[in-house]
Amino acid sequence: MKTLQVDLGSRSYPIYIGTGLLNKQELIQPYIKGKTTVTVSNTTVAPLYLDKVHQLIPSFSNTDILLPDGEEYKTFETLGQIYTEMLEARCDRKTTLLALGGGVVGDVAGYAAATYQRGINFIQIPTTLLSMVDSSVGGKTGVNHPLGKNMVGAFHQPQCVIIDTETLNTLDDRQLSAGIAEVIKYGYINDLDFIDWLDENMDKLLKRDPEALAYAIHRSCQHKADIVAADEKEQGQRALLNLGHTFGHAIETGMGYGNWLHGEAISAGMVMAAELSKEHGWIDQADVDSICALLKKANLPVEPPNEISATRFSDLMSIDKKVQDGVLHLVLMKSLGESIISSDFDSELLQKVLGRVA
Ligand code: NAD
Ligand code: GLY
Repeated sequence: MKTLQVDLGSRSYPIYIGTGLLNKQELIQPYIKGKTTVTVSNTTVAPLYLDKVHQLIPSFSNTDILLPDGEEYKTFETLGQIYTEMLEARCDRKTTLLALGGGVVGDVAGYAAATYQRGINFIQIPTTLLSMVDSSVGGKTGVNHPLGKNMVGAFHQPQCVIIDTETLNTLDDRQLSAGIAEVIKYGYINDLDFIDWLDENMDKLLKRDPEALAYAIHRSCQHKADIVAADEKEQGQRALLNLGHTFGHAIETGMGYGNWLHGEAISAGMVMAAELSKEHGWIDQADVDSICALLKKANLPVEPPNEISATRFSDLMSIDKKVQDGVLHLVLMKSLGESIISSDFDSELLQKVLGRVA
């Protein structure tokens, strides 16, 4: 087992990464302060792993809450279901919430934990690659609004993150690839050596080689932990983690939540960010080609859907959390492996990129 620390002063917490961690009671129990727990999962993950979680917490009075499965359920309504079932179970301020599942469960259950009785403790138990390398770490929680992705939420850090890599054995190939998109993202933010490693080891990742997966998860979580420790509330550099996201969120919202997987949308979004960077002369066509080649190797899309026109794209991108005082900021590539947050891009070139791909 490997342990990383997210350094946030009194709110610091560990990320445990290893195989068979869902069999280790001693790992989770110190982070449960009261006598009661609520385990939030969904109808797909619960039949696979809920029993294991129950075995981790035999001495606690636990209530299970099972959500419908899918990005389209990351809604106020699902949040309401969690509040209602927690109130019915008489959960109080000392209840600890365990979020068992992918990023959807983690985000919505995390937001319930952030807001139930003004905030209770929670623990992330991510079960998709994407949630292991990104969403379970860093405390961003929330739900989608029909007009925009992740538009309502809160920063609420977990007590700990328990990553049992064995859970990836039941994940389907498309979801695994979607997770790899977020892994690749860290490389293009600021770690070209990691890109080289990913290029060499992509086949191993796709074949779920345990050592390769553990390495990629650990290195990704290290990047995330470092950035979150430096800028928890995204006043500056944390926005780098959104490479590809302004374009990607527009794809997810525009296509209807759940039709494009988050990681797939981020993959196509990273290529759009690269295209725009190339238009500014910061990277060249060979760089864009190498980005596309790596994403394709991971079985990820490199083009956005035809269904979204340039005008609609612009419209969707104007509802983004990186719009400040009406000005859109984008994460772009100043050079390959050196991403920057910038509002200093040419809007005509942006329109050209949107027009070309749409
Ligand atoms: P997801 O939660 O929808 O999970 C993908 C699918 O895999 C679901 O059908 C789920 O039921 C299933 N599943 C989960 N674990 C499984 C397992 N071990 N075996 C078999 N099936 C399993 O999707 P995701 O990709 O994990 O998360 C995407 C969400 O995360 C998006 O809503 C995105 O906005 C959010 N996100 C949040 C952050 C953050 O910082 N909070 C960062 C990145 C992404
Ligand atoms: N996934 C973006 C962030 O956590 O900031």
